[in-house]
Amino acid sequence: MPTEVRPVTIPDFAAWKAQRRRISMLTAYDFPTARLLDEAGVDCLLVGDSLGTAVQGWETTLKVTLDQMVYHAEMAARAARRALVVADLPFMSYQVSPRQALRSAGRILKETHCQAVKLEGGTRMAPTIRALVDAGIPVMGHVGLQPQAVRTLGGYKVQRSGEEILADAHAAAAAGAFAVVIECIPSSLAARITKQLTVPTIGIGAGPHCDGQVLVVHDMLGLIEQFRPKFVRRYVELGPQIRTAVAAYVADVAEGRFPGETESFR
Ligand code: KIV
Repeated sequence: MPTEVRPVTIPDFAAWKAQRRRISMLTAYDFPTARLLDEAGVDCLLVGDSLGTAVQGWETTLKVTLDQMVYHAEMAARAARRALVVADLPFMSYQVSPRQALRSAGRILKETHCQAVKLEGGTRMAPTIRALVDAGIPVMGHVGLQPQAVRTLGGYKVQRSGEEILADAHAAAAAGAFAVVIECIPSSLAARITKQLTVPTIGIGAGPHCDGQVLVVHDMLGLIEQFRPKFVRRYVELGPQIRTAVAAYVADVAEGRFPGETESFR
């Protein structure tokens, strides 16, 4: 019989900031992984559009569709018993207008158990964040490096100056975002933003002074071996472990050692 757990809520984020309790967040894209991360105590699961790079094998997140996000968000959010689950709005599902964003985010909240959406952009996206929040859709902002703008500078580079990023974070929070992801910026700037904002900052490649941290789960588990950015800590090297396990299975099948008596029906 599973024990009762109190699910994380949006107001917890503000309370945790006030208490200086750090927030842990990881990406998840499917039921079994989300279940494991939730059971391990992660506070927030992000069904990120990193789906495109981590799961689908693309070089960018641009190809991910809203239908695909709904499909994965439905599975991941259904698995979470405690963690708050946030889904990314993918490229071109919200940039056209606040109206388009409302439709897209509405689908996420109606067709999955996600409690919030995340979108990239600060000052420029403030009217969209406001429209979503006014409609009862909690929004997590995302400033600093914005992967959906990868084509603008021809690579994964921070598109805005430090002062612009600070203004973006303020704009997202003022428009009603309950938390703001800050990606790949100097620790000192992240510390400044974290000090000034009343909502939590969740850093990725933004140093230790943020209110929380997020990583792509495939990166921290060592499932994508070719990609090892400076800001990722590998907590386990699953790549080699999976290869060793599968090679043992292949050899057992080839040699007739699998299945054995105990793995067979009488
Ligand atoms: O899509 C994603 O995984 C993200 C994180 C990198 C914050 O946006």
